[in-house]
Amino acid sequence: MKVPLTVQLKDSKLYIINQTKLPLEEEIIITDDYERIAVAIEKLEVRGAPAIGVTAAYALALSFKIIQKENIVGHFDKVFKRLASTRPTAVNLFNALDEMRNTFEQFKNDNSLYERMIERAVLIHDNDIKLCDAIATNGLSIFKKKCRVLTHCNAGSLATGGNGTAVNVIRHAFENGFIEHVYVDETRPLFQGSRLTAWELKQAGIPFSINTDSAAAFLMQQGKVDLVITGSDRIAVNGDAANKIGTYNLAVLCNYHKIPFYIAAPTTTIDKKCSEGSQIKIELRDKKELTIIGNKEITDQDFPAYCPAFDVTPNNLISAIITEKQLHKPPFDFSNV
Ligand code: MRU
Repeated sequence: MKVPLTVQLKDSKLYIINQTKLPLEEEIIITDDYERIAVAIEKLEVRGAPAIGVTAAYALALSFKIIQKENIVGHFDKVFKRLASTRPTAVNLFNALDEMRNTFEQFKNDNSLYERMIERAVLIHDNDIKLCDAIATNGLSIFKKKCRVLTHCNAGSLATGGNGTAVNVIRHAFENGFIEHVYVDETRPLFQGSRLTAWELKQAGIPFSINTDSAAAFLMQQGKVDLVITGSDRIAVNGDAANKIGTYNLAVLCNYHKIPFYIAAPTTTIDKKCSEGSQIKIELRDKKELTIIGNKEITDQDFPAYCPAFDVTPNNLISAIITEKQLHKPPFDFSNV
C-alpha cells in the first residue's frame, strides 16, 4: 500500500509534502533551513502532533550542519526556542525537542555533534513509525464486526512520521475485513478531513464519504455510525484528551447516541506534567483561517472571530485510548505509562 512520505531526510535536506496544497497539488518543500521548517509548522504545511515532533527534531539537527564552534549553546537555545514557539498544543513537539536537548548535552563538545543530532532525529522518526504500527495492531480489538466508522481531522500518515494513528487503526481494520465505510468530517476551518484523510483513504482503497462537521449528529441519529475514532495532540494523565476542534462535540454526541468513542495516540502524546485537561494550552489561530477560504474572503474581514484549534474531551466520554502499549480502558491513569 502506498503511504505518503510526509517528512523525509535525503542528502542532508528535509523533504516535506506541503499539506496546505493537498490533495490538489503534491508540492514538496525541500530545505535545510530551520527557520523555513518552523514556518512550515506554523502554517500547517506539516501538521499533526507526531509529524510536528519528528519535523522539529530534524530542523534542530539540520541547524547544526554549518555552525561555528563559538557560542554553540546559544545557537542551540535560539533554535530550540524558535521551534518550541511554533505550535503550543501538540506535546510531541516538546517531547521531541527535549530528546534532542539530551543528545546536544551529551555531544556538545564532540566533533561529531551534527551527526549525533541527525542520528537522534532519525531515531525519533523510526520510533514513530514503530509506534504507529503497534497502535494499529492494538486497535484491532475494538472491532467485533464490520463497522461504519467516523473520524475527524487527519490522524493518518500525513500527521505522523509513520502510517498514522487513528487512520492506521482504520487501515489495519480494513485489511482485516472490519471496515464497511468511513465517514470523514471535513474538519473546519482548514479541512484536514476532506482534503487529507479523504486523500489517504482513497489511496488505501477504503470506502469513505466526506460530510460537514455538523452532519455527524444526523448520521448518528440515523444509526449509520458504529464507532468514532480520532487522534490526539496531548493527553493528560487522567485521560482527558486534546484534539482538533470539534472532537469534543463528537464525544458528546457519541455519549448521547451510545456509540463508543476512541482515541488513538502514541505515548509520546501523553503529557505527564498535565494531570488534567484544563492544564492543556489550547492554540488560538488567526481569524483569517475562518474568514478566508483559499484566497476568497467569505465574510466581512472586520467581524470578530473565535478560532481555537483544539478542544479537550473529558475522560468520562472516552471508551478507550489506544496506544502502542495496549488498549487503555477507563479509569485512565497514565502516570506510569
Ligand atoms: O492542527 P492540526 O492539523 O495539526 O491538528 C491535528 C490533529 O488534531 C490530529 O488529530 C492530531 O494531531 C493527531 S495526529 C496523529
